Amino acid sequence: MTSAAGPSAAPPLPVFADVDTGVDDTFALAYLLASDDAELVGIASTGGNVPVEQVCRNNLGLLELLEVSDVPVSCGSPQPLSAPLRTAEDTHGPTGLGYAELPATDRVPTAHDSAEAWILAAHAYSGELVGLVTGPLTNLALALRAEPALPTMVRRLVIMGGSFDYRGNTTPVSEWNIAVDPEAAAEVFAAWGNAGLRPDTHELPIVCGLNLTESIVLTPKILARLASAADSHSMTMSVLDERGYRSAAANPLIRVLEDAMRFYFEFHFDQGEGYLAHLHDPFAAAVALDPGLVTTRTTTVDVELDGTLTRGMTIADWNGHWGRPPNASIAVAGAAGATAPLPTVFFDRFIERVAPFARRFG
Ligand code: RIB
Ligand code: CA
Repeated sequence: MTSAAGPSAAPPLPVFADVDTGVDDTFALAYLLASDDAELVGIASTGGNVPVEQVCRNNLGLLELLEVSDVPVSCGSPQPLSAPLRTAEDTHGPTGLGYAELPATDRVPTAHDSAEAWILAAHAYSGELVGLVTGPLTNLALALRAEPALPTMVRRLVIMGGSFDYRGNTTPVSEWNIAVDPEAAAEVFAAWGNAGLRPDTHELPIVCGLNLTESIVLTPKILARLASAADSHSMTMSVLDERGYRSAAANPLIRVLEDAMRFYFEFHFDQGEGYLAHLHDPFAAAVALDPGLVTTRTTTVDVELDGTLTRGMTIADWNGHWGRPPNASIAVAGAAGATAPLPTVFFDRFIERVAPFARRFG
C-alpha cells in the first residue's frame, strides 16, 4: 500500500465524525480532511451548538468550500433523547460558524439519518472504524439502540465531552456536549460498559473532557502562525479590532477559519476568559488519529440525570466504588516523556497539517 507518507505507511484510518458544527467542530473537520492518516468516511450532524438542520447545512457547505466530493453527510435527530434542545448561538454565532460565510451548495444529505449512518459505517468498516463525537451523543445513542453490537464493531471511539475533577462550562459541573443530552451520554457509556469488551482486543472510548481540552488555548498569535504557514497572513487579530471585522485573508479556508474564530474569541473575552478560544474538538480529532498524544486513565463513567444542581455531570469512579466494569479511558494529560507541552505538540501538528491543506485552495 503506498500512501502520501510512503510505501511503509499504514493505510489511512476510516473516521466517522459526529459533529454539531460549530466553530471548533469546523476546525476539527478541517484537521481530519487535512490529515493523510485519516479517511473521513462520513459526517453525522447532531443538534447542539445550533439546530441540526443548520449543522447539516454547515457540514455540506464546508465540503463545498473544500471541494470534497466523496464524504456523505447525514442529518440526525432534531431533538435530544428526552430533553428539549438547547443551542448556543451566543457562543458560536447565529449560523454556528461565527462571522464566517460558506459557499452556497446544491449538495444534499443522505436519505438515511445519522443513527443509520453510524450503523452503516460500522458495518462497512467493521473492526476498523474510528468514531469521533464532538457534539451531543444523541445520534450515537440512537444507533446503539438499533445496533447494540456497535461497541464491538468500532476500532476506536473518541468523545469530546464531559469534565473530570474539573469545572463545567454549561453549568458549574456539566460540559456542553453532555449537558445538551445527558440521557444519550449515559446510554453510550452504559453500552460500552455492558459490551463485555476484552481490553486485549478492544479499546474503551477515549474521553477528552474540559479537564484537558481547556488547556488547548488558541490565541490570535497562533492563528496568525497558521495563516502565515498557509501563505495567507493578513493580520493578527486583537480584542481592539472592530467587532465582527472580516478577515482579509486571500485563502478561502483561512478566511473561514478566521471569521469563525473571531466570534469565538469575542465570546470568550466577554465571558472574562480573555481573547482566546479552547480548541476542544480538533484536539479530540487529533487524539482520534493518534491516542499516543495523551495519557489516559481507565475507569467507569456515568452521568448524573436527576440532580437539580448536578444534572449532566460526568462522574468517574476512579476507586471502583460502584463495582462496575470500566467503560472509558479518560485523557488526563499529555504523553509521558513528550518533548514539549501538550498544547505546543497539538498546535504544531495542527499547523503542519492544515496549512499545506489550505494552500491547495489559495
Ligand atoms: O464543551 C465544548 C464542546 O461544546 C465543543 O464540542 C463545542 O463545539 C461545543 O459543542
Ligand atoms: Ca462541538
